[in-house]
Amino acid sequence: MSGIPHDHYEPKTGFEKWIHTRLPVVGLVYDTLMIPTPKNLNWWWIWGIVLAFCLALMIATGVVMVMHYTPHVDHAFASVEHIMRDVNGGHMIRYIHMNGASLFFVAVYIHIFRGLFYGSYKAPREITWIIGMLIYLMMMGTAFMGYVLPWGQMSFWGATVITGLFGAIPFVGEPIQTWLLGGPAVDNATLNRFFSLHYLLPFVIAGLVILHIWAFHHTGNNNPTGVEVRRGSKEEAEKDTLPFWPYFVIKDLFALAVVLLVFFAVVGFMPNYLGHPDNYIEANPLATPAHIVPEWYFLPFYAILRAFDSEVWVVMFAGWITGGIIDAKFFGVLAMFGAIAVMALAPWLDTSRVRSGQNRPMFKWWYRLLVLDFIVLMWAGAMPAEPPYSTISLIGATYWFAYFLVVLPMLGVIEKPTEAPATIEDDFKAKVAKSAKAAK
Ligand code: HEM
Repeated sequence: MSGIPHDHYEPKTGFEKWIHTRLPVVGLVYDTLMIPTPKNLNWWWIWGIVLAFCLALMIATGVVMVMHYTPHVDHAFASVEHIMRDVNGGHMIRYIHMNGASLFFVAVYIHIFRGLFYGSYKAPREITWIIGMLIYLMMMGTAFMGYVLPWGQMSFWGATVITGLFGAIPFVGEPIQTWLLGGPAVDNATLNRFFSLHYLLPFVIAGLVILHIWAFHHTGNNNPTGVEVRRGSKEEAEKDTLPFWPYFVIKDLFALAVVLLVFFAVVGFMPNYLGHPDNYIEANPLATPAHIVPEWYFLPFYAILRAFDSEVWVVMFAGWITGGIIDAKFFGVLAMFGAIAVMALAPWLDTSRVRSGQNRPMFKWWYRLLVLDFIVLMWAGAMPAEPPYSTISLIGATYWFAYFLVVLPMLGVIEKPTEAPATIEDDFKAKVAKSAKAAK
């Protein structure tokens, strides 16, 4: 499939031509901004821009903080307090960075669930999806390591628990864990390598974002109907699309302003709402906090990790069949990574020929249940690992896997989809007519 036909940059003045023959960078910017974009995109399509903004915001605030931060176990905690108390605007920069991580994850979860509903992962956008999943994994790694840097109680114990999971891998677990930590336990070497990687990974993410955008610019955006832009000729494509500049730039900036209004209200008035008070106590390897709870954005997968304890029959069965190599801890780790892996495989597990959930009456219900499941898992992940929460986590984890491994493949066979609009233009006209009628 070739890209959507559209006007390309033509240098006009002598100077423009001189530049263009040597480095066609203006052409690249022009073609990126003028990319034909489906006319009918709804508000769920704004989160990509919010994500790009978050990445820039996190890098900018992070780079400033690094100027005053000290990655050493004896100084890290105090250097963060120094940022908060002495550095000009330091408390604001830190609170933006802290809460920026949460905004980043709010945006990425909405972006992912948007893709899951409208079938944006389906052919020909599988590579966009897979790159997205890699970005998501990198985001989780970056956020986890960033949380260790202030060297509070949760930083230390969170790092101890999570790196301990690697120790559960049979045979090679312990050497891997030691290698990750740079020693037998979380200590100065751990803080140093996490600091180094926490600085590096956002730039790797930035590289992946460029690939992500390149990929969906090549295939064209998906849209709420799931119907492709007509590509027979430029005139035909123009009936289904509008150039990204100025239409979508203005729309996205408006949406970003609204999102930032809420974001800055949180940063200004309740900056510690999403944090844990124990992280304002300096790390102490001799005092374990009563509850070690990860940040909210890890909770659904943390719930899946803990759901499979040694009482669960599949865990017992796996242990029996492998002669004890797979124990409950290792099973939990496999389940946690497996939960992300099955999501990454959605393009191949979804057998329906219809792309958008709008035209899939049965799918809609299973999808809604998945959203609910995700929220319930997030709640259960914050609760103690005991009944009834462990049972709820197990049911939630089972549905998560069932959705991808059973529901998506089956629905394609048994579901009778409804008729999608013939073209994006038709859908757009119908929407305009509807809002004109509502305005009367
Ligand atoms: C830093 C993180 C990310 C950034 C900056 C980003 C950016 C974008 C942008 C700007 C779009 C265009 C449409 C829109 O705004 O929604 C987009 C589309 C898309 N993204 Fe992401 N994305 C990120 C992460 C992810 C993740 C984690 C996934 C899930 C695996 C994902 C999957 C997709 C898919 C499938 C599309 C195509 C849908 C379409 O063309 O409308 N993205 N992304």
